[in-house]
Amino acid sequence: MQRVEREIERLIKEINYDEVTRLFEMLQGGKRLRAKLILKIAHSSEKAPLLAAIVELIHGASLLHDDVIDEATLRRGVASVNATDGSKTAVMLGDILYSKAFTELVSFERDIAKIVASSVTALSKGEMMDVKMADEFNGDEEKYLDMLYLKTATLIEAAAESAAILAGKDSASHALYGKNLGLSFQIIDDILDITADAATLGKPAMNDFVEGKCTLPYIYLYKVLNDDDKKKLVSLHAKMLDEQDALWIKQKMQEHKTIEKSFELAQKLSNEAMSVMKDDTELVNILQTMIKRSY
Ligand code: FPP
Ligand code: MG
Repeated sequence: MQRVEREIERLIKEINYDEVTRLFEMLQGGKRLRAKLILKIAHSSEKAPLLAAIVELIHGASLLHDDVIDEATLRRGVASVNATDGSKTAVMLGDILYSKAFTELVSFERDIAKIVASSVTALSKGEMMDVKMADEFNGDEEKYLDMLYLKTATLIEAAAESAAILAGKDSASHALYGKNLGLSFQIIDDILDITADAATLGKPAMNDFVEGKCTLPYIYLYKVLNDDDKKKLVSLHAKMLDEQDALWIKQKMQEHKTIEKSFELAQKLSNEAMSVMKDDTELVNILQTMIKRSY
């Protein structure tokens, strides 16, 4: 991973603007899940650290823009760039990181460049769907999972698939692994938004629903509530929740086991990914660690 960090640093230096270096240093690196995945799959390739750095820059750019769109003031436990330096700066920094990543991507073979580039169109489409869907309560599981796939899983899928091509490995099975890892990762993230506390999350708890995002535990809950409770749940959508309302939602979720049901889907997707990758203990380990994040 040190080689990836060095590549990222080199690319940022090449931009040759102190303001960008200063802002970038303020960002927290995060888990670097996508980079780790690329290194695990393509460790035999000289170009793996560069591909990993490119994907991390794209991911970083998407989070900068996402925080502007979500008006989020916290990212990875520290103040977001839009909070410290304003939305205009956050958008421009995102543009610079994203376009620098694309410039570097051109040095890769066509298949790899196309997979990574088109995943960015997909994640941008997913982001737009996510924002649009937050306008009203959504109880449609399929619609939610389609959006999730685009918004979160496509970049992870592209990371795994492109790394497999780079290393001369089977691209289809790695793509499926990446897709399911991404989906199950996001479902766990959605669960943690409800079950973890603000200190652990680095952002307020139950923030998704306040932002209008109806994640799986809410969708499953809506399906099983009686008409009065359905109305109540919908009336709380996209509003600040007081302690009593938050507790009501949590109790209902407990009663109807909707967190468990969501976790079961994450586990099912994760098992599918493990079964296509059963001979690769390192990739299986990544999945197991991810699914075990406490909830
Ligand atoms: C986080 O979702 C956001 C994403 C995974 C994707 C955001 C994509 C864009 C803004 C498209 C623009 C892309 C580029 C490369 C410039 P979330 O809000 O559910 O998660 P959070 O809780 O981490 O904010
Ligand atoms: Mg967000």
